[in-house]
Formats: sequence, C-alpha cells, structure tokens
Amino acid sequence: DLHSFPTRRSSDLHIAVKLIASEPPADTIAGIPVNYDESKVGVYTLPDPLTMTNGKKVKSAATWINKRRPELVKLFEEFQFGKAPGKPADLHFNLFDKGTPVFNGTAIRKQVTVYFTKDSADHKMDLLIYLPANTNKPAPLLLNVSFMPNSVMVEDAGIRPGYMWSRDGKRVPATTSAFRKFDVEKFIKNGIGVALVYYGDIEPDFKSGLPYGIRSQYLRGAEKPAADEWGAIAAWAWGLSRAMDYFETDKDIDAKKIAVTGASRLGKTVLWTGASDQRFAMVIASISGEGGAALSRRNFGETVAHITDTARYFYQFAPNYHSYSYKLNELPVDGHLLISLIAPRPLLLQTGNTDFWSDPKGEFLAAIAAEPVYKLFGKNGPGAIEFPAPGDTTLLNPLGYYMHDGGHTVLPSDYDIFIKYMLKYLFP
Ligand code: GCU
Repeated sequence: DLHSFPTRRSSDLHIAVKLIASEPPADTIAGIPVNYDESKVGVYTLPDPLTMTNGKKVKSAATWINKRRPELVKLFEEFQFGKAPGKPADLHFNLFDKGTPVFNGTAIRKQVTVYFTKDSADHKMDLLIYLPANTNKPAPLLLNVSFMPNSVMVEDAGIRPGYMWSRDGKRVPATTSAFRKFDVEKFIKNGIGVALVYYGDIEPDFKSGLPYGIRSQYLRGAEKPAADEWGAIAAWAWGLSRAMDYFETDKDIDAKKIAVTGASRLGKTVLWTGASDQRFAMVIASISGEGGAALSRRNFGETVAHITDTARYFYQFAPNYHSYSYKLNELPVDGHLLISLIAPRPLLLQTGNTDFWSDPKGEFLAAIAAEPVYKLFGKNGPGAIEFPAPGDTTLLNPLGYYMHDGGHTVLPSDYDIFIKYMLKYLFP
C-alpha cells in the first residue's frame, strides 16, 4: 500500500501523483475489481436530497436549513465520517510570530501554535498565515490543508521547521525535497491571504496511527472509536475548525470570508469541513473522488469497498461506512448529499479528466443531483449540460465544476481558477 506511510507517500501531491498513478488502471485493488468501463457502471437510484427521512418534500430554503440539512449532517456523522467532539475547553493559541514582513514587504507572515489540549505538547498544530500588507481591512483568506509540514510547503526561511511522521509513530523533522511549493504570492497579489496547516499535526495518516493523534485523547478508556465515531478525515476536519477558531480571534483576518481547500483525501476532508462547520464561507475541493464528491452508487473507479478495506483507508472513516461496501443501495449518504450540505455557499469541485480512479464524471453527476438544493436559494449548479471538456471554465457557478486536462493533482493553472472563483464569490 503506497499510502500507508506518509513520509514515503509523497514529498508533495505532485510526487504522490506518480505513486498513485501506479494504482489505476489495475483491474483489482486490494483484491477487489475496479471498473473503468462506462457501459458497466450499473443502474442506481440516488436518494433525493429534497425528500426528508419521513417522506416529506422540502420546498423551502428554511425547511432545508432547519430540518433536512441537520438530518443529513447526522447521517454523514453516523455512517461515513463519524461524530467528532466540539471545540475543546482547553483550546489555546500561541501567536509566536506576530507579523513579519515577507515577500519584499508585500505580505505579513504570522505563525500560531494551536494547542488542542491543556498541557500535552503532542496535540497541537502550527498555523502559518500570510496576509496582504497593503491594506488596513481584515483579509479574506484561503486555508490550505497540506500533506507536508508548513516549512516544506512555502519558500520562506522564516517558517518554524515542522515535524512529520515516521513508520513507527515518531515525529521526525520534516525533510525537504523536490516538490512543488505553494505559491502564496499569487494569492497575495490578488488581495487574498493564505493559511496553511499540515494534516499530520492533527492526526497521522496511517493504519496504526490512532494512538498518536487527537482521536486518542477522546477514547474515554475504549480501545478505538465506536462504529459511529470519527475516522481520520473527521479529525482533520475538526482541526480545520480549530483553525477557524483562531481566525475568529484575529482582527487582521475576515473570518466571514474564509475558503478552505485540500486535495484528494484532503479534498474529502474539506468537503466535510464545510458541511460540518458552516463558518467556512467557501469550499474548493480538489480531486476528492470516492468518499468525497463522487457518487458511490456509480460503480466507476474507486468504490466504498476499496476505500474502506482494512488494508487501505478504513481508519479514515467511521467504521460503519465499511459495512455498506456491498449494499450501496442502502447507504444513507452519497456524494451529491455531501455537496448539498455546502449550499448555499460557493463550492468549487476541481477534478482531472484522466483521474479515472477518482471518477471525475461521478463528481459532475453528483453536482447535477445536488443542484436542486442550490436552486432553493436561487443559485446555479452545472445546469443541463453535457459532461464538460477539460479546461472548460464556463461552469464556475456557485455550485461550480472545473476539470483540468490531466490527472490526480492540482496544477499551477488550477490555482488561477481558484483565485478567479474567490474573487467572483468571496469578495465581489
Ligand atoms: C488513494 C485513495 C483515494 C485518495 C487518494 C489520495 O488513491 O484511494 O481515495 O483520494 O489516495 O489521497 O491521494
């Protein structure tokens, strides 16, 4: 399993892509067949986002917000991502870099350690923040959850060196290597701040990681989380909510204008972040695939059976999710319902046309199926169009879809689209 060991997994997504590329188009993964044939996706019926569990139809935005939405959030908690605790009473922040001019004075860097518990130095995350310098208004920003520690993600010698995970559950100093840096300045030039968080600061990303992450602090004597309790994705999402807790205290940041982004398993993570925490004003979910925006009921590429296999990513989800591997028609949730939980806030799904494992078409069909929820608020999704060609930028709607020409990655040109999208909807 190329992904069970994060330090080997990637020095960044770019490298990860090469590793992942060796998976598809294999015809089995973890001994489970993978279908890449459109004629074999099968027939499926999607649960209607606008029909309540009691059979009643949702006809207004108010009923959606007050009744249907909370009902769906509960279903996702119970059956897919798992219940997470709320904001910890002992949460506290140490702003150890209070504002250092960087990038030729165009930006101000801040660094904050977010402590999740009262005294344990093991449960904390470093938040790296860049804000445009030439403004006295609170800045909107893009929060990026990364596969690598902050000090590896950005070209800036002033970043406190981070740690990452070794195979035996030890934190080791972050290694730098050839990987694509996050282009912070591109955002700053457009008046947008950037914040970065390393997912491993919150919860490790490997099968035996439970004892080391934040979930270990909430076991209450149990050996592992219960069947409806949080997997690693919900833990990462929980950590992003703690970043939001910090943003709300910082007067230089406009906490009402925060977009959150991540790719792949972290694309799934940001979808759940936006779904479970409505303080996030926008979500940009890259190549989220199975367990993210793609339709699970559509048998193409990765399936629930693959992703929740105990040899693979079982630990990323509530254990309940696994029990639906072979009874998808009974699964109470699916990609289009996850998308609908972001409404009416802008959501951009970024995919790649050759990322077959993630099923870009399944994400597109999910967006179409979620559109009626956006319509309740007078907002558009993809509409009645055919599957777009790669590079088509006509679908940057409030429920937006953009597919690059390429595979399982975020291209530099995708970030231009993100900026365009943020400028359009976050602070027009
Ligand atoms: C694997 C996994 C995907 C996931 C991806 C990633 O390919 O099966 O569901 O999105 O890793 O995180 O890169």
